[in-house]
Amino acid sequence: MCGIVGYIGSRNAADVLIDGLRRLEYRGYDSAGIAAQNGAGIHIEKRAGRIDALAEALRARPLFGTAGIAHTRWATHGAPTDANAHPHTDCAGRISVVHNGIVENFQELKRELAQAGHRFRSETDSEVLAHLIEEAWGRTGDPLEAVRAALGRVRGSYAVAVLFEAHPGLLIAARRESPLVVGLGDGEYLVASDAPAVVPHTREILVLDDGELARIDRTGVRLFDMRGNEVEKRPLRVDWDPEEAEKGGFEHFMIKEIHEQPAALRRALAGRIAPEENGAGSPAALRVDLAEAGWSAEAIRAFRKVYLVACGTAHHAGLVGKRLLEAATDLDVAAELASEFRYGEPRVGPAALVIAVSQSGETADTLAAVKEAKLRGARVLAVTNVVGSSLARAADYVLYTHAGPEIAVASTKAYLTQLACLGLVALYVGRVRGTLSKERERELAAALERLPALVEQVIRAVEPKARELARRWQDARDLFYIGRGLDYAVAREGQLKVKEIAYVHAEALAAGELKHGTLALIEEGVPVVALATQRPLVDKTLSNIQEVAARGGDVVALALEDCPRREALEETAREVWYLPAVPAELAPVLAAVPLQLFAYHMAKARGLDVDKPRNLAKSVTVE
Ligand code: M6R
Repeated sequence: MCGIVGYIGSRNAADVLIDGLRRLEYRGYDSAGIAAQNGAGIHIEKRAGRIDALAEALRARPLFGTAGIAHTRWATHGAPTDANAHPHTDCAGRISVVHNGIVENFQELKRELAQAGHRFRSETDSEVLAHLIEEAWGRTGDPLEAVRAALGRVRGSYAVAVLFEAHPGLLIAARRESPLVVGLGDGEYLVASDAPAVVPHTREILVLDDGELARIDRTGVRLFDMRGNEVEKRPLRVDWDPEEAEKGGFEHFMIKEIHEQPAALRRALAGRIAPEENGAGSPAALRVDLAEAGWSAEAIRAFRKVYLVACGTAHHAGLVGKRLLEAATDLDVAAELASEFRYGEPRVGPAALVIAVSQSGETADTLAAVKEAKLRGARVLAVTNVVGSSLARAADYVLYTHAGPEIAVASTKAYLTQLACLGLVALYVGRVRGTLSKERERELAAALERLPALVEQVIRAVEPKARELARRWQDARDLFYIGRGLDYAVAREGQLKVKEIAYVHAEALAAGELKHGTLALIEEGVPVVALATQRPLVDKTLSNIQEVAARGGDVVALALEDCPRREALEETAREVWYLPAVPAELAPVLAAVPLQLFAYHMAKARGLDVDKPRNLAKSVTVE
């Protein structure tokens, strides 16, 4: 949680930083602040509320200086007030700090510092950092040493950026378990929690590893470890288009990202499905190649068990991935919530492959599950969107989803690309293990290639219906999503979407479970979304839809065009929305889109802040 940005260069830092904060606002949005440094010292402006409140304050009282740090907050310790907003300073106001993470031992440190005479102005854990650095700076007089010594006393997680009044034009940054990148521009440098704040200025980044510090001035960047040794590192190039991190004419990031899904899927599939080398004459069939992930065929053949670990939407992608892997391989597959993984007794050992799915690659629960799995000897494949993320670096093998920057808190294009990538993984592992027939691989690979165009078609056809349905259901108290098999996995994603942005209670049920209890809640007019895209299961799902309709439930059904029981479905449900025919395994990619569009229009109809739902943040870097 929280976003930090820093700048050193020749432009007015506050202008660069406020723009950077807007690009990181999805990480937290309950208060924001900036510290800018010029020849006359460090000046701070900070405000409770959205970044607009800070921008307004800066219009009245501009900050000048070519170095600065900034922060957008998601409160953990202390209410979202002006005083608790970052940057925080030491007693004399000569050291300014922004922090993302949690100082777990802040109470004992605060007690100790208060006894030594330090005066605290906020209720945050972060403020202790400013005072710890002040103490260490008093002893050493060296900024890098002071930050290093201070962080050495901290338990917990941090990404920090620090300015010293006595050292104009110098910025010290460091990280442990919270992300931090350094952007290498032309005579200017940025630090940021995430690449969207950097890409408008440069695509060259250095990704800090845990326990690394950066000393940045206008002449360059030097990296050090916590023992003070200098570290050499090659920059990475981020291929994100800066315009993708802007709304580009759409009202919200979420709807823009829904519309970007065809392009995102094309990128996720590009270079991973290729024509087979064929004998003369026959048309080239398609096959999947994922050797880029860095795993050998030998390693793939040695796995006995697969665990998909993830949180939230990424977990819902994992539920689909489980079914795809089970269908294409002979492996035992479990899809686990990363936040629960460590509390069971998973039989994870050297013969296990753990597939960790995460848009950000920074979700603390997912990283903790990966750590646990590695301790037990498992190999880890990261399926992530963020190049150089903590997950990508912790994993043995990496498959990037290439969704591009996802800014809206509600995940959409990341989810669809995760589904596509897990589909590719299933096909590739199935082929390498010899458990998938050539014909099936060709059929599914060809169908995967058609998905971007089909998603485009679905968006066009369904958006007006989703808008209309949202008007009809906008005052609903509860919503139910039902489905069997893969439809149930997609139902889980549909209900999460509507809860998180439209604030309506929603529940997903395996359709066969309705009659075991929840059917009692169905009465006249209760809205139910029924997914019936799985051909062999349509008959049974239809019976469940009949049970709901018989009790007055208002059912909207989703089915494929070639659905076996079209007539019966149309007679039973109030509306049936058809999706293009695809192999049932890939139907989730199409079925998710109407549910995203409905949730979006529901939130809009209810007048809510679609991109920044209350109490949530994009990256959940705390457990
Ligand atoms: O970055 P990650 O994919 O690891 O994030 C996991 C969840 O926090 C995330 O999917 C969350 O559930 C979304 N806001 C849902 O739209």
